[in-house]
Amino acid sequence: MIKFVLATFAAATATAALAVPPLPPGTPAYSTLKGDPVAGKAVFTVCKTCHVVTPGQNRIGPSLYGVVGRTSGSVPGFTYSAANKNSHIVWTEPVLYQYLLAPQAYVPGTKMTYPGLKDAQKRADVIAYLKSKPTS
Ligand code: HEC
Repeated sequence: MIKFVLATFAAATATAALAVPPLPPGTPAYSTLKGDPVAGKAVFTVCKTCHVVTPGQNRIGPSLYGVVGRTSGSVPGFTYSAANKNSHIVWTEPVLYQYLLAPQAYVPGTKMTYPGLKDAQKRADVIAYLKSKPTS
C-alpha cells in the first residue's frame, strides 16, 4: 500500500515537472507558419537589450549563436538560473515557438524577464533568423 502511494506520488511529480502550458486556443501550429529570417532580424531588435548573436558574447542573457537545436543552459561562462539549467530543454523550433510566447510560463523561475512575443508570425520570423546562425 505504501509502495503504491509512493509510486503514485512519484508519477504525479514527474508529470508536473514535464508539464508545459498549452498554447492558447487559436494559436497557429508552428508547422503552418513560414519564418522569414530577414523580418526576424528586425524582430530580434527587442531581444538585443539582453542578447547578442556573436558567439561567446554573453550580456544580460547568453549568446544566442546557434541556439536552435542547443540544450538549455549550455553556453560557457553564462550564469543561468537553476530553472533554466535544470530544465534540460532542447531548443528545437517548435519549443522556441512556444517558449518565446511566455518564457516564465514555459520555464517557471527563469531569469529571462522578457514577458514574451505574442505575435505568432514574429516568433516564427525570429526563429528563422536565429536558425540562419547569424554572427553579428
Ligand atoms: C530583459 C532581458 C531579455 C530579453 C529582452 C530577452 N531575453 Fe532571452 N534570456 C534572458 C536571460 C537573463 C536568459 C537566461 C535565463 C535563465 O538562466 O533563466 C535568457 C535566455 C534565453 C534563452 C535560453 C538560452 C539558453 O542557452 O538556454 C533563449 C532561447 C532566449 N533567451 C531567447 C530570447 C529571444 C529570442 C528574445 C527576443 C524575442 C529574448 N530572449 C529576449 C534575458 C532576456
